[in-house]
Amino acid sequence: MSKVTVVGAGAVGATCANVMACREVASEVVLIDIKEGLSEGKMLDMYQCATLMDFDTKLVGATNDYKKTANSDVVVITSGIPRKPGMTREELIGTNANIMKSVIENVVKYSPRAIILVVANPMDTLTYLALKASGLPKNRVIGMGGALDSARFKCYLAKATGANINNVDGMVIGGHGDTTMIPLLSKATVNGVPVAQFASKKKLQEAAANTMVGGATLTKLIGTSAWYAPGAAASMMVESILHDQKKIVPCCCYLEGEYGQNDICIGVPAVIGRKGIEKIVEIDLTKEEAARFEESAAAVRKTNQVLHEIKAL
Ligand code: 2OP
Repeated sequence: MSKVTVVGAGAVGATCANVMACREVASEVVLIDIKEGLSEGKMLDMYQCATLMDFDTKLVGATNDYKKTANSDVVVITSGIPRKPGMTREELIGTNANIMKSVIENVVKYSPRAIILVVANPMDTLTYLALKASGLPKNRVIGMGGALDSARFKCYLAKATGANINNVDGMVIGGHGDTTMIPLLSKATVNGVPVAQFASKKKLQEAAANTMVGGATLTKLIGTSAWYAPGAAASMMVESILHDQKKIVPCCCYLEGEYGQNDICIGVPAVIGRKGIEKIVEIDLTKEEAARFEESAAAVRKTNQVLHEIKAL
């Protein structure tokens, strides 16, 4: 028996719940939102897919009733406002930090053993806030960004190289921001063969640049922030936790000395299993990548500083 709560029944939260239901990631998924009827309606709609998609996950909707979320093993937090075209993720901090604080209070009260997965933006700073506000150990508070950014990187690498997308491997570390994320071209491969063998330097650099503005490109096209890949990335991480898959996932972790950083939540590769962040994997970075990681950490710290200014911490 395993139970997952998704906080926020917007597009990302509902997609995450839907992917988890279809893949039978947990025995029960609860979707909670402050808007009357929204989560109940979406979960009922999803449950009506059960015989069509062949799943029997218990699906529960809850309007602001955290009792229904009690004793969740994992809580995915998507609640908050999404960005509009032209906005950065960092601009959402004021509103979303306050939402995060009240959500964390309820999560800790009703699911004291849960692992928390932060999806809401600005993701690195809100993961830091969730960790500090919850008082949970660092292995139990994780941010999703790098998993999504890496999936986008693989998509653009597949387009650049012409390779089968499932043969492509690559990761993105650093902050989950248009200028802070670092697609690691030096490590990207097609079935273990360096990508440089399949595409020109220019094409590969374009793939990396497209990855960095991957979210912004979609926001411009759709008019609001994306949801299919963000929801699927969160589901993949919940699956790695609940099924103890121990996948190495680039994601937002609290660092205490790793990669030369302290007291910051930022994207690095980590082993994700039943205990949450089970190990941070330190990989060799090129000189340029290491310098970019430092810059990225400085930018994330700047947004973290806002938490003090708005008295969220
Ligand atoms: C994105 O990049 C929602 O931050 C998320 O699409």
